[in-house]
Amino acid sequence: MAEMIDASNAAGAISRAVAELRAGRPFAMPTETVYGLAADACNGEAVARIFEMKGRPSFNPLICHVDGLAMAGRFGELPEAARKLAAKYWPGPLTLVVPARADSGVHDLVSAGLGTIGLRCPRGIARSIISAWGGPVAAPSANRSGRVSPTTAAHAASEYPDDDLLVVDGGACPVGLESTIVSVTGDTVTLLRPGAILASEIAEVTGLPVHEPAAADGIQAPGMMASHYAPDALVLTDCTDPPEGTAWLGFGNREAPAGVVAAFNLSPNSNLVEAAANLYAALKLLDVSGARTICVSPIPMEGLGIAINDRLKRAAAPRDREAG
Ligand code: TXA
Ligand code: MG
Repeated sequence: MAEMIDASNAAGAISRAVAELRAGRPFAMPTETVYGLAADACNGEAVARIFEMKGRPSFNPLICHVDGLAMAGRFGELPEAARKLAAKYWPGPLTLVVPARADSGVHDLVSAGLGTIGLRCPRGIARSIISAWGGPVAAPSANRSGRVSPTTAAHAASEYPDDDLLVVDGGACPVGLESTIVSVTGDTVTLLRPGAILASEIAEVTGLPVHEPAAADGIQAPGMMASHYAPDALVLTDCTDPPEGTAWLGFGNREAPAGVVAAFNLSPNSNLVEAAANLYAALKLLDVSGARTICVSPIPMEGLGIAINDRLKRAAAPRDREAG
C-alpha cells in the first residue's frame, strides 16, 4: 500500500523524501512532466530496486535528475550547446544526454554502461528534494515497464499495489508528457525523444542542426522501442469513425460518436498543450472502461502534436511488454 504525502506541505514532503533516498528505498515524486520513481543515483542497490519494481530491462538507462547546471557538471561533460540548452530550459522538461564523467560516483546501472549520462533538472518539489539531498536522483517514469506514465499520484500508487511506496502528491503534472531528450556530443545534436521542447527551438538556441537518430544506432531512448506507453486495450490511431463498442479518444470540436462505450475529448478547443496534459490520464480512464479498443482521433503533426503522435504510435504498436 502506498503512503501519500502532500507536496503542499513542502518541508514535511522533502524530509520524508530525503529519508527514503538515504535509506535506499525508491519513492514516487511529481515532476512537471510525469511522476518519477526516484532513488539515489549513486546507490547501486537502490537503482537495482527501481529496475526490479518497474520490471524494466536493464539495458534501458535512467535519467539522472539534478538541481541545476553546477550539479550536472559533476556527472557529465557539458559541451557548449548543452550549456546553452540548460541555461534556457532548466528547470524544465528537457533531458540532455552527454558524455559521462569517469568516477562521478553515479552507479553504472544508471547509464547502462553506455558511457553517456542523461541529465535533467525538473521543476517544483522534485528540484527542492534534490537540492535538500544534495546529490543526483535517478528516476524513470513511475509506471511499470511498457505501461502508460503516471501523471497523478493515485496513478503512480496504483502501479505498485504490493509495495510500501512513499508517493509525494503534487497533483496532476502540468506538461503530462515525458521530457524532450536530446543527445549532445561536441557539435552534434540529436533528438532522441520528442517532447514539449521542440526540435525547432533546440536548433534555434544552439544554432546547430538537430538530427533525428538513425534506426541502426541501437537503443538510445524509449522512442527507439516499438511498443511503449501501452494501455491494456488496443489503440487505433487516426481514427475518424470509431466502430460500435470501442472507446473514443477525441480531439477538437466534436461530440462523442454514437455507439462508443466510453469517450474522452483531449481538447475540444484543439489545444495541443491541454491534450498533452490529459493524454495519459485519458488512456488510463478509457482502459478501465473495459473496451477492447481505443480509437483515437487524428492529432495534428505540429508543435506538441509531434510528441503526442509519437507516444500514440508506440501505444498502438504490437506489444512485447519489454519496453521501459
Ligand atoms: O520527463 C521525464 O523524462 C521523466 C521524469 C520522471 O523526469 N522521466 C522519464 O524517464 O521519462 P524514463 O526512464 O521513463 O525515460 C527516460 C529515457 C530512458 O528510457 C532512456 O532510454 C533515456 O531516457 N536515457 C536515459 N539516459 C540515457 C543515456 N545515457 N543515453 C541515451 N538515452 C538515455
Ligand atoms: Mg518511461
